Amino acid sequence: MDAARTLEPQTRRYGLTLDDCRLDDFRRLVERQSSLADHPHAKSIEKNVVIYDSAALVKATGSNEEPVLAELCNLLTDGPGVAVFKRAFTDLSVIDRASEVFAEIIDEQHRTKTGGGDHFAKPGANDRIWNSLEKHCLADPENFALYYANPIIELVSRAWLGPAFQMTAQVNRVNPGGASQTPHRDYHLGFMTAAQIGRYPIHAHRLSPVLTLQGAVAHCDMPLESGPTLFLPFSQAYEPGYVALEKQEFKDYFAANHVQLPLEKGDVVFFNPALFHAAGSNVSKDILRVANLLQVSSAFGRAMETVNRTRMCAELYPALANLKGEGRLDAAGVASAIASCAEGYSFPTNLDRDPPLGGMAPKPQSALMAEALAERWTTETFIAALATYDEKRQS
Ligand SMILES: [Fe+2]
Repeated sequence: MDAARTLEPQTRRYGLTLDDCRLDDFRRLVERQSSLADHPHAKSIEKNVVIYDSAALVKATGSNEEPVLAELCNLLTDGPGVAVFKRAFTDLSVIDRASEVFAEIIDEQHRTKTGGGDHFAKPGANDRIWNSLEKHCLADPENFALYYANPIIELVSRAWLGPAFQMTAQVNRVNPGGASQTPHRDYHLGFMTAAQIGRYPIHAHRLSPVLTLQGAVAHCDMPLESGPTLFLPFSQAYEPGYVALEKQEFKDYFAANHVQLPLEKGDVVFFNPALFHAAGSNVSKDILRVANLLQVSSAFGRAMETVNRTRMCAELYPALANLKGEGRLDAAGVASAIASCAEGYSFPTNLDRDPPLGGMAPKPQSALMAEALAERWTTETFIAALATYDEKRQS
């Protein structure tokens, strides 16, 4: 137990702010060299990124997988935070068939002008398949089975999240000319605005990275000109990092110091979701850079009971409107009652129908209810809006 953390709770501050972000501290953390000695099962270190030969790693789990699990976990925690698993897919026909499925889905999106907005790119620069996991499974169950039977995906997911992890996936096809992303961290806190992040306690900054794992399966060879992801090794361990990326000097540091590795079809990359990263620019003439982005979530972070919040909201709405109208509940009271009734988080949702346009996250149910009360919607109008809201979030 870290005594310093337990002895002075009264003097500790609640959250983290821009004042906590000092580039010198950050540089001390990230300006380190990865060493093969810290990653005994790895094949090599390239640009501070740990490289594994997938077949050798799977073989090494043998009858005692704990040393491998520990190595992967440590790498993601306070090691470089990113590793490439070479030839994770040995049968490239499995990747090729999945690529065909994805291309058909993208064509269909173009034909029907469906497909959601993208939180990180301008329209046309790329093609997204939100929830490629479910679409892939329904389109070709056998290929899905062969694809997700991959031992590296299972091993690294379990190493980081423990058992009962939940897989989700999204395809990103970046077309030639597609611009690079701005450096960012990923879900959860990485998807919030600075104002939202500021409302969470410090321990949530430590918690967010252990709730998910980011991965990418390369569906084609990705030379540097095609823009494989830019990473800043060791940046995941910087505690104020979700806030720091608001500061220009941190963005500039990322621009000057990131690393980028070419990938081959069938390689898989996994990285800590708090690692500073950004998709690169595709300056190639003709490479459609296709990656299936895996976002694996911990089983934790969910309530124990199933609650029908929509039914509750519908019943509560007229009562709350009356209490508000009669002045028996003030604005704070109304907000508190909503917080215990409505879903207050935007996710999970269907990003095709509920796209994160104009921000990183769609509107949560609680915001819908607050809006309805503020604008004095009738109960019928609110119930209809709830139904529409539920409908668009279904996969
Ligand atoms: Fe990202």
